[in-house]
Amino acid sequence: MSSLRGRLRVIPSFAGELPSFPVEKAPGAPLPLLVEWLEAAIEAGVLLPHAVTLSTVSVDGGAAARTLIVKDVTADGVLFATRTDGAKVAELERVPRVALTFYWREVGRQVRVRGFVRRESDEVARADASARPAHSQAAGRLGTQSAPMPSRSEYVRQFRAEVDRIERGGAASSELWAVFTVLPESIEFWAATPDEGQIRLAYERADGGWTRSLLWP
Ligand SMILES: Cc1cc2nc3c(=O)[nH]c(=O)nc-3n(C[C@H](O)[C@H](O)[C@H](O)COP(=O)(O)O)c2cc1C
Repeated sequence: MSSLRGRLRVIPSFAGELPSFPVEKAPGAPLPLLVEWLEAAIEAGVLLPHAVTLSTVSVDGGAAARTLIVKDVTADGVLFATRTDGAKVAELERVPRVALTFYWREVGRQVRVRGFVRRESDEVARADASARPAHSQAAGRLGTQSAPMPSRSEYVRQFRAEVDRIERGGAASSELWAVFTVLPESIEFWAATPDEGQIRLAYERADGGWTRSLLWP
């Protein structure tokens, strides 16, 4: 078997058909295009098309990133939900600037969003929390997110008990749950093509509207 380095070098980037990206027909604002690409990823059968990497500025000034699930894309921005007692919410409260990165490998596309977060109301958090499956609700209520956990077996015991309680009709709680909207300042769309290199189209917020430009890949 050759070295890892050698094996990595020969992996082809994208194989098979890729959807076209007619940049000349791109809309004047980026969020409708993000919705279009998300729907195309769903249609193409991408696994977890709504998974996104959220990057924040950590409390010590470093970078921090983790995967989240996108809940919706509205006229304002991109919504995600999280527990409020973990590292990321402490970071967002200190520095509300974030980046989101979508990568849909099956269609050779990436979208990068930069912007600010807005915390939505408790009512929005409650509606989202109660729509979650029992196991997600249970996981969202135990312990303190991102804190060290002394015993895996104790967690599993509490998790099972909590799932059981919720499935028997126990009340959902949104106490530790919040929904945030990422309000974009810039969004860049990246697409691979079979034989014409890559396409990058960047939107920047300007004067209440958006500017659009192609970037060198
Ligand atoms: C596919 C996937 C989806 C996830 N979805 C969420 C989510 O919607 N909300 C969330 O808070 N964490 C989600 N997580 C867990 C986070 O990646 C992370 O481990 C957790 O939120 C703690 O992050 P923090 O320490 O930066 O606060 C998901 C992880 C994966 C792999």
